[in-house]
Amino acid sequence: MGGTRTCLPHCSPCKCWESCRVLWSCALCPPPHLQHGGGHGPGSPTEPRGHGPGGASPGTRPRQEVSLLRWACAPLLWGHRGFCQEPDPGGPPARCQELWRDPRPSPALLRHVPARADAPPQDPPVLFPPAELQRRAAGLLGMEEALFVPTATMANLIAVMCHCQRRGAQLILGQDAHLHRFKHGGAAQVAGIHPQVLPDLPDGTFDLERLELTIREAHGSRYHPRPELICLENTHSSAGGRALPLAYLRQVRGLAGRYGLRVHMDGARLMNAAVAQDVEPARIARHCDSVSLCFSKGLGAPAGAVLAGRREFVAEAWRARKLLGGGMRQAGVLAAAARLGLERAEATLRRDHDNARRFAEGIQELNSPVCSVNLAAVETNIVMVSIRGGWPSPAELCQHLRAVSEEELAETGQAVSVLLFPWSAHAVRAVWHRDVSARDTELAKNKLEFVARKCQEKLAQGLRPTPPSAGGA
Ligand SMILES: Cc1ncc(COP(=O)(O)O)c(C=O)c1O
Repeated sequence: MGGTRTCLPHCSPCKCWESCRVLWSCALCPPPHLQHGGGHGPGSPTEPRGHGPGGASPGTRPRQEVSLLRWACAPLLWGHRGFCQEPDPGGPPARCQELWRDPRPSPALLRHVPARADAPPQDPPVLFPPAELQRRAAGLLGMEEALFVPTATMANLIAVMCHCQRRGAQLILGQDAHLHRFKHGGAAQVAGIHPQVLPDLPDGTFDLERLELTIREAHGSRYHPRPELICLENTHSSAGGRALPLAYLRQVRGLAGRYGLRVHMDGARLMNAAVAQDVEPARIARHCDSVSLCFSKGLGAPAGAVLAGRREFVAEAWRARKLLGGGMRQAGVLAAAARLGLERAEATLRRDHDNARRFAEGIQELNSPVCSVNLAAVETNIVMVSIRGGWPSPAELCQHLRAVSEEELAETGQAVSVLLFPWSAHAVRAVWHRDVSARDTELAKNKLEFVARKCQEKLAQGLRPTPPSAGGA
């Protein structure tokens, strides 16, 4: 029995779907050498080594872990020198007893920074002023100001709260928009708006005639909720990471302006759109009154997002952030990671897009009766794999991709566990991020090829194998 047994570690307890969708690795888990029995990553008490269906069983070779798990901000922690403000040259000696706020990162935290005696002086610092991050993000997005918040969910919610100040205002958004489908209807629950959903077209846009009809119906009516805000999502996640065309954005903005509505963009993956369209992010954001941007997706930071817009809007957003408990004390650690993500965005995202495309091309070449992909729809780091026929279902296909077996090892010389997400009744979703390399992509593609072939054989024999249980091959 040759070959290697490869486990692509995942992070189920933390449910960080975004980082984990493909070949799960979690930006939140510290690398193994930083783990001291805590945490939830591989090696932690909640995540036994050899976890998952391919867990080392008696008689098999020990699993060789191709650890894709890199702590997204680990490089930030090397060679830490801390962030300190320059003393005022003309002022008193720069010793300051800070009694007005809670502490900066404690020495205990910093002791966990791996010492790197050879750290080059240009290594990024472990802390970065959030105000400076906000300034840079605002500049990048061509907005007057930006506000650092813990998550894109909060950024979007704050945007809705600030744009729709009248209770019961109408928010027009796509029925598949993240803001609508997920997060427990926070916009309705917390912001008190009335969501008016429109069908999302396959490219993530709205039918503009339908949009205008919807606005006109309610505009000036005493019987309808008052339409105040349109929310767009870019890239559009449910549409498979489609980047909204700039001409479309201009049209939506024009329409909104005619009826006095504002436009917010859920730009959690706006940088992916900018890279795919080869434009400055500001060229996208200029068609909106406000835009959010997430640092903890393709940009690889452990947490954080910004909400950008006009000065008065951001001043109001600051209050809403307080209300929601999103004001963070030691935010410099997160800002440092976000800054690094921004600085490396273009190279990282281009690589992710290339890997996603290669994976999609591989599926298309399979020409399999089991699954297919629409290559024209693969624009960024997301690939929606369509399931043809009734079997296997998306969940069953995911189980087969996750399981490893002796048969796989014997036939392919590999035993690879791939984790995808069953997105809908007919599709599974794969998302690329900084911890998935070209080699990992190749392994995942080969695994899908193997699974599709096995399913095809069973179908030809009129058999429908029982999907492997989560615990074994
Ligand atoms: C389009 C979109 N917007 C917002 C979010 C929420 O991001 P966060 O997890 O940072 O709250 C997500 C998360 O997947 C998303 O896909």
